[in-house]
Amino acid sequence: MTLKLSKRSEIVKYSPIREIFDLASKTPGLTRLEVGQPDFAPPQYIREASQRAINGGAIGYSPTNGLQETREAISNRLKLDYNLEYDPNKEIVVTVGASGALYLSLRALIDPGDEVLRPNPGFATYDEIIKDADGVPKQYPLLPDADFSIDFEALKALITDRTKAILINSPGNPVGNVLDQEQLEKLMDIAEEHDLIILSDEAYDKIIFDQKHIPIATLTCDKARVLTIGSSSKNYAMTGYRIGFAAGDSKLIGEIVKFQSLSMICPSFIGQKSYTAALNGPQDDTIAMKDEYLRRRDYFVDALNKIPGFKCFKPGGAFYAFVDVSAVSEDDWNFTRELISEAKVTCIPGSSFGSVGKGYVRFSFATSLETLEEGIGKLNDYIKSIK
Ligand SMILES: Cc1ncc(COP(=O)(O)O)c(C=O)c1O
Repeated sequence: MTLKLSKRSEIVKYSPIREIFDLASKTPGLTRLEVGQPDFAPPQYIREASQRAINGGAIGYSPTNGLQETREAISNRLKLDYNLEYDPNKEIVVTVGASGALYLSLRALIDPGDEVLRPNPGFATYDEIIKDADGVPKQYPLLPDADFSIDFEALKALITDRTKAILINSPGNPVGNVLDQEQLEKLMDIAEEHDLIILSDEAYDKIIFDQKHIPIATLTCDKARVLTIGSSSKNYAMTGYRIGFAAGDSKLIGEIVKFQSLSMICPSFIGQKSYTAALNGPQDDTIAMKDEYLRRRDYFVDALNKIPGFKCFKPGGAFYAFVDVSAVSEDDWNFTRELISEAKVTCIPGSSFGSVGKGYVRFSFATSLETLEEGIGKLNDYIKSIK
């Protein structure tokens, strides 16, 4: 038969950086600095909880909104860490990662043609999940010359009567920028003035170095104004468990639960048991991982800035170094290809995160100090060789 795919299949695209992964997979001897996931194993106490869940045998579906104990653990941690109050019975849903929360919340919020603002540079997946919900992504720029803070004039200029939501991400991927109180207050003012919902992707909230994380939900009493999205993936090195959550207005949470029931039924039972233990347990391992990322950041960013022609922003959170390489290459895609084939180091082209990322590349420091040192050695040699 002739396969007739949907219009949606044409509109929603795979990430173009698949080309980079393909090239990397065919190139031997690479120092892998593109990987966006923790290099740590999940802490022992979490793995023990996974084993207990398996040995208990009763591994079935959970309620569609997640296990009661997991929702309670999320609620308790939000209260303990940020003094946020969410009712575990109706204002929290456990999801398949932050990705699940983002995907389903857009299903619940967006009508065809509704516009969603997202940071530029920002997590490239945002555009495609907005499009998959029949929405229109609009990219608001961050300002490289002002510590990648939000260009509020440009953001305001993007708002139309079709704008429904502002997506924010702090600490942010790919830059590691952190939204401070002032920026968050400005965002809240804009959201209130134009009656927009803020979707706050806080997947990296525990990987923050120089200041305290401020959830934007702490700046309003209106539950409907913010959907807080969290994840087990980065904070607890639990990427493969696929567990995250959304916390917000009960009506919106109810809709997310409905769409989850249609698509995933529920998140993984073992994942939820493990995340419950992660949240309720001592947070020492999470702090130790953050301290190690900090040690790596301090070494890596300093070393990158010593490479002639490289200029790297000092990230306040997450585990990425976003480097301006425009002094050594006119094209970040070509430069990435050259680094892979010539220098034998992988990275991600900055423009894949949005137009502001043109001339940049993203390295990850979610890898050992030895690997970072090896990468720095290769980058130095390569830059010398092309001068
Ligand atoms: C900013 C951001 N949000 C969400 C995700 C997805 O996280 P999860 O594993 O919880 O789906 C990622 C993963 O890299 C990310 O960088």
